Amino acid sequence: MRLRYACVTCSRILESEEIVYECPSCAAGQKDGLVEGYSRGYLSVVWSPAAPMAPGSPVDPLQFMPFPIRDLPSYPAGGTPLVCPAILQKKTGFPHLAFKNDTLNPSGSLKDRASLLVAAQAWVHGEKRVALASTGNAGASMAGAGAAFGLDVVLFVPGAAPRAKLLQSLLYGARLVPVKGTYDDAFSLSMVYTREYGGINRNTAFNPFTVEGKKTVSLELYNQLGCRVPDVVYVPAGDGVIFSGACKGFADLVKAGCADRMPVMVAVQAEGSNALARSWREAREIILPRAATIADSLSVCRPAGGRMALDYLRITKGRAVEVSDAEISAAQAELCREAGMFVEPSSAAAWAGFLKDRHQVDPGSRVVVLLTGTGFKDAAAAEKLVSLPAACDATIEAAARLLSDSYGLHGRS
Ligand SMILES: Cc1ncc(COP(=O)(O)O)c(C=O)c1O
Repeated sequence: MRLRYACVTCSRILESEEIVYECPSCAAGQKDGLVEGYSRGYLSVVWSPAAPMAPGSPVDPLQFMPFPIRDLPSYPAGGTPLVCPAILQKKTGFPHLAFKNDTLNPSGSLKDRASLLVAAQAWVHGEKRVALASTGNAGASMAGAGAAFGLDVVLFVPGAAPRAKLLQSLLYGARLVPVKGTYDDAFSLSMVYTREYGGINRNTAFNPFTVEGKKTVSLELYNQLGCRVPDVVYVPAGDGVIFSGACKGFADLVKAGCADRMPVMVAVQAEGSNALARSWREAREIILPRAATIADSLSVCRPAGGRMALDYLRITKGRAVEVSDAEISAAQAELCREAGMFVEPSSAAAWAGFLKDRHQVDPGSRVVVLLTGTGFKDAAAAEKLVSLPAACDATIEAAARLLSDSYGLHGRS
């Protein structure tokens, strides 16, 4: 199948039936990790509608995909609910505030949208092996999709990734390579692996179908909001690929004729991993010497999707917001206690970003916060917020004492 791609660096159009990752001229001479600034020559899939679509008409996300997805019900990524959190709408004074709950994907994160499309890519090209680097969720997601579609998944992760994400990946049957080093080290190693051992590389941004798969989140949002795009969207960002995927979905809706504008897109980063936010502020490409945050999924020194994300910040007249680990933890607790949403710290960062940024937003706006990953996989982060009471004797007196000692006499009023 012949597909069209645009180089993110030089905008040149490429057509190919083969698996391609980079624009040959921009990528020439570039060695992994040794290039100044962000990677050059990554590709963006050029999608065009078969026929113009009516403004405000509902869309079928599958029609926006570059090729058919075989056996979609085997790994039904996407189709996640829009949550309208009444208590938080009232508390913040934003009556149209909504969460896109992508924690409800098969492996627990938005990454499943990309993994599904990469699994379809493997099928189109008759490949059986997919290698990737991950902070944890993309790996677990590709491992899950790999299990559902019979693929061999080789996964490079920083050794310090949350245990549950690694156990989940192993249980799905991935071959796990924990690396002594950072996510950026795992990323470079996985590139070498694919060059030497073949198969598909699913590294985020490097494989253009990662952005393409993630764009379905915006197509669904458009349908769920009554065939309208939101006004402002808050997206947690590390490599910036979820951000770009969400932007591309809206851009393709405009291209299709369904919408006449894109939302203002806000990328939310952790202060301890703020390469994109600083790059946006300082108008130059920043690579961090080290990145550290409680939101481990956002911990990136050299954002793989940096160029595209910065382009989309400009195109959507968006902005980048930074939040501290304390703000992320407080946001995680608030989402649990006041919306019943148990998300991992990276997703809580998006909520913290909205809370910090909301003075810039008209309260009548349709605001969507993207919740990208479940909290169940990061027990260590949860244990920073609560401590389990010790078991009491099985008597009503002991239970009453525990309730009073641990939670106050009457609990929450
Ligand atoms: C749950 C979750 N949210 C957000 C992100 C950040 O996405 P990106 O690195 O594409 O910016 C990740 C990345 O691993 C993630 O797993």
